[in-house]
Amino acid sequence: MNNGKVISLQKVSKHYQRGAETVHALQDVTLDIAQGEYVAIAGHSGSGKTTLLNLIGCLDHPTSGRIAVNGPEIQKAGEKELTQLRQTAIGFVFQQFFLIPTLTVIENVQLPALFTGRKVHERAKELLKLVGLSKRMNHLPAQLSGGEMQRVAIARSLINSPPILLADEPTGNLDSRNADTIIDLFETLNRDGMTVVLVTHNLDLVKRCSRRVHIEDGVVKI
Ligand SMILES: Nc1ncnc2c1ncn2[C@@H]1O[C@H](COP(=O)(O)OP(=O)(O)OP(=O)(O)O)[C@@H](O)[C@H]1O
Ligand SMILES: [Mg+2]
Repeated sequence: MNNGKVISLQKVSKHYQRGAETVHALQDVTLDIAQGEYVAIAGHSGSGKTTLLNLIGCLDHPTSGRIAVNGPEIQKAGEKELTQLRQTAIGFVFQQFFLIPTLTVIENVQLPALFTGRKVHERAKELLKLVGLSKRMNHLPAQLSGGEMQRVAIARSLINSPPILLADEPTGNLDSRNADTIIDLFETLNRDGMTVVLVTHNLDLVKRCSRRVHIEDGVVKI
C-alpha cells in the first residue's frame, strides 16, 4: 500500500436490488484512510454507513469502483487471500453482534483465532476483563443483556490484535459508564498504532476521533 494508506476507496458504488427497485446505497465514494487514523463515520439512518463498513471489511463486493485494504486491490485478490485478510488484518464489531448462540462468551471471543492455531485462552480472558465481563465468561449469549453482548463482540474483534478495527455503533447499547470504558479502550489501541474506523452517533466518541467522515444518501461529504 502506498503513502501509508491502509484503506483506499476509488469511486466506489454499491447498489442493492430490492425487487424491481435499485437502492443506491453508496455512490462514487472516494476515501483514503492512513495507517493509525481514528475515523468516525456519521450520517442518518439508511445513509449507507454499514454498507461502507462492510465493503471496507471485505464482507461484500462493490458494484463498481476499486477498494484496497492493507495491501493490493481486493478485486485482484483471490478468495483465499481475502479470507486471510478478514481473519488477520481486520477486526469487525457488527451492529447486530452476530455472536454464536451455542458457544459461551469466552468461546465466542476465541473464535476468530481458531483458524490461526494460536492459543488465545489467556488473551481472551484479558480482553473480557478489559470490557468488564470477567464474570460472564461461561454464559451463553442468550443469558446476556444487549450491552453485554456488544462488549463480547468488541472483545472478539480484538482477539487477533488486528491492525485495522472496524466497529459499527460499538457503544449503541451501552450505558455511559460502559461506553466510556470502550471509548478509552479504543483510544489506547489507536495510540498503540491500530487504525480505527467506527460508525457512531455518540458525540463523546466522535469528539475523540481524529477525523470525521459524513455520509448523506450514499454520498460522502468530507
Ligand atoms: N441487503 C440489502 N438489500 C437491499 N437494500 C439494502 C440492503 N442493505 C442495505 N440496504 C439499503 O441500503 C441503504 C443503506 O443501508 P445501510 O445499512 O448501509 O445504512 P446505515 O447508514 O448503516 O443505517 P443505520 O444507521 O440505520 O444502521 C438503506 O436504504 C437500506 O435500506
Ligand atoms: Mg447501519
